[in-house]
Amino acid sequence: MSMITLSQYLKAAEGAAGHGRITPELSTLIHALSGVSQHISAAVHKGALSGVLGTAGTENVQGETQKNLDIIANDMILVALAASGVVAGMASEELDDCSPVPGHADKPYLVLFDPLDGSSNIDVNVSIGTIFSVLPNPRTGDINNHSFLQPGTAQVAAGYVVYGPQTSLVLTFGNGVAAFTLDREAGEYVLTTPAMDIPADTKEFAINMSNQRHWYPPVQKYIAELLAGKTGERGKDFNMRWIASMVADVHRVLTRGGIFMYPKDLRDPNKPGKLRLMYEANPMSFLVEQAGGKSFDAAQRILDIQPTELHQRCAVMLGSAHEVQRVADYHL
Ligand code: AHG
Ligand code: MN
Ligand code: MN
Ligand code: MN
Repeated sequence: MSMITLSQYLKAAEGAAGHGRITPELSTLIHALSGVSQHISAAVHKGALSGVLGTAGTENVQGETQKNLDIIANDMILVALAASGVVAGMASEELDDCSPVPGHADKPYLVLFDPLDGSSNIDVNVSIGTIFSVLPNPRTGDINNHSFLQPGTAQVAAGYVVYGPQTSLVLTFGNGVAAFTLDREAGEYVLTTPAMDIPADTKEFAINMSNQRHWYPPVQKYIAELLAGKTGERGKDFNMRWIASMVADVHRVLTRGGIFMYPKDLRDPNKPGKLRLMYEANPMSFLVEQAGGKSFDAAQRILDIQPTELHQRCAVMLGSAHEVQRVADYHL
């Protein structure tokens, strides 16, 4: 085991040449995220013993009933990133509008985050996580929602923390994807996978099959082929997984390949999908592409989408390149 800590990894990246180089300010930002994620992990680890379970009885801008941990994690991250001294403003799944950091309009970074992804799994002890996306501060004056409306290709960093049997931090700066495992006793993340790599082919798909009757024809056709197995056109059997925490499903795809899908469906033709572009689809797409995979909303690369609203949704089909390309081609 390398025993390279996150701090050592970031120090090396600050001194790297060319593409792999990061700024000291970005290091500071990742350190702040690392710190707050350890506090969230400790609370998740205690579960009912730490009063984080159950619902808060409030609703967020998404129309979802907020869980206590949604709000606890959200508030912890807001405080930690505001205190980092390198963040000009933040946007969160749990906040209607962005949250400028007072007096910090000139700081280098904007951060968008899903403080607690997989909320429906909190009370049943299934892996959940935090997802984050880092954009450059456009420095066009005061920070407002419009400051955040940058395409996924503008991200300078993205990552997630999955609170599972291990607490893992997965991170990209645009120079590959690194995975770290939290050493709770030492209170630091240790590099455990220097370069995550998604195989181009797979036998594993992730989709919520209960929505099948609502899917559009291209997804119906694609999934029917997978279900036909060895005797069908694909000539091989496929396996299915659906954890219903995007962070855990995507971690599996980054770890062993697969295709993850949350397609647009007929239930609401005006709703392009369930997942949110700015703090779910974009960060995960950056990670997946950096690990050799692909990520489309239907026939378009997600990272190319020009956002028009902070909480806009999109369809997601990401993972093993050959499978994602195949189902994207069915949409042409
Ligand atoms: P969140 O808990 O942050 O609102 O996100 C939940 C998302 C995503 O994590 C997951 O892939 C998807 O919702 C599961 O949706 P279904 O419950 O419809 O399967
Ligand atoms: Mn939610
Ligand atoms: Mn989420
Ligand atoms: Mn969430």
